[in-house]
Amino acid sequence: MRLYPHPPVLIRRAQVADTLPGNYKVNAGQDIMISVYNIHRSLQVWEQAEEFIPERFDLEGPVPNESNTDFRFIPFSGGPRKCVGDQFALLEAIVALAIFLQHLNFELVPNQTIGMTTGATIHTTNGLYMKLSQRKLTPELVSPATSR
Ligand code: HEM
Repeated sequence: MRLYPHPPVLIRRAQVADTLPGNYKVNAGQDIMISVYNIHRSLQVWEQAEEFIPERFDLEGPVPNESNTDFRFIPFSGGPRKCVGDQFALLEAIVALAIFLQHLNFELVPNQTIGMTTGATIHTTNGLYMKLSQRKLTPELVSPATSR
């Protein structure tokens, strides 16, 4: 969600004339585009900004959000129109990933050209293919419900 934030840009329209921090003047009716993609990859606010380093977020610490990262991590936006499904989405992702990884092996299909494109959201141009195979379950990981 940092390197490929799925809405890469947020747009706001000024209801009234305003001056933003940094002395940026905004006219009434003017649209403002906030590039989440660029903020998430900015060397001004991230070390090794382009690298995928999940450990940069402390597993024992709070889940990163706009408030505890001083708005440098805003995959769900921020403020009054922030995503209302953020907690649900995070929980769903963890549960889905845990179940997938418990049951399946994932292998990237070789020799693919994986392209990226954007519309309202970032997505692949022609998909990203994986070969899935049943994973041998480690007995101690099998819950009574799964083994039935
Ligand atoms: C990883 C998953 C998700 C991401 C990255 C995401 C991201 C976002 C972002 C960035 C916005 C704000 C757009 C803006 O400010 O212009 C937004 C709004 C919204 N999201 Fe999500 N979202 C996700 C999942 C969900 C889920 C699971 C739900 C519902 C269960 C949801 C419901 C909404 C709604 C209703 C809004 C509009 C809120 C408003 O305008 O007041 N989202 N989302």
